[in-house]
Amino acid sequence: MRFTAGARARVGILISGRGSNLGALIAATLRDDFPAQIVLVLSNTAKAGGLRLAAQAGIAARVIDHKAYESRGGFEDALSAELEAADVDIVCNAGFMRLLTSRFTERWRDRQLNIHPSLLPAYKGLNTHERAISDGVSITGCTVHIVREAMDEGPILAQAAVPTRPQDTAETLAARVLAAEHQLYPHALALFASGAARVVGERVEIAEGLQQTPEAVLYAPPLMPG
Ligand code: GRF
Repeated sequence: MRFTAGARARVGILISGRGSNLGALIAATLRDDFPAQIVLVLSNTAKAGGLRLAAQAGIAARVIDHKAYESRGGFEDALSAELEAADVDIVCNAGFMRLLTSRFTERWRDRQLNIHPSLLPAYKGLNTHERAISDGVSITGCTVHIVREAMDEGPILAQAAVPTRPQDTAETLAARVLAAEHQLYPHALALFASGAARVVGERVEIAEGLQQTPEAVLYAPPLMPG
């Protein structure tokens, strides 16, 4: 772990939209005993609702519009420059909708997390809930993983299982999974920022006593009626 022992890790968050996961991370990092602090929020669009959440929390936020750059590399270098200027240790993608090339993912290798609304490696990409419903799965969930260049791939840090219901639509299932995401992302960031979870090759090792067990299911919210 490259973070300074005893200090709270400095986190930069990448967003593109609503920012509800950002909101959950902000709430968690307000606790004095949380091992990380959010020092910067970057959005690739001025329309991201999450920018307002950052402003309300007094966190520095900037828009780096990907459309202003001729190449992906130029955009990614601008992101990295902002993150490095803010002395960021860990980058968290939270609903960031741009694909990143190895230029960015290697620069932040083993220091970048992403949350995805499925139990990876199932249902990479978009429309996860539609596909889970159409396959008739009874359990889905969400995953926080270390970012690699390939989309939605990389060592798994934490997962939460969420049941589907027979009457589910993509919207009702998304809402149930999102509630679990809001529990899981702060949990995963705390494990990572504290050094309790470390990347070893292509797996994450979690310190004795803190390993994920079937209790991870506890991160799923109680069954909602209907
Ligand atoms: C979440 O479902 C996240 O898993 C996915 O995009 C969505 C972002 O939602 N990557 P929000 O912007 O955090 O509300």
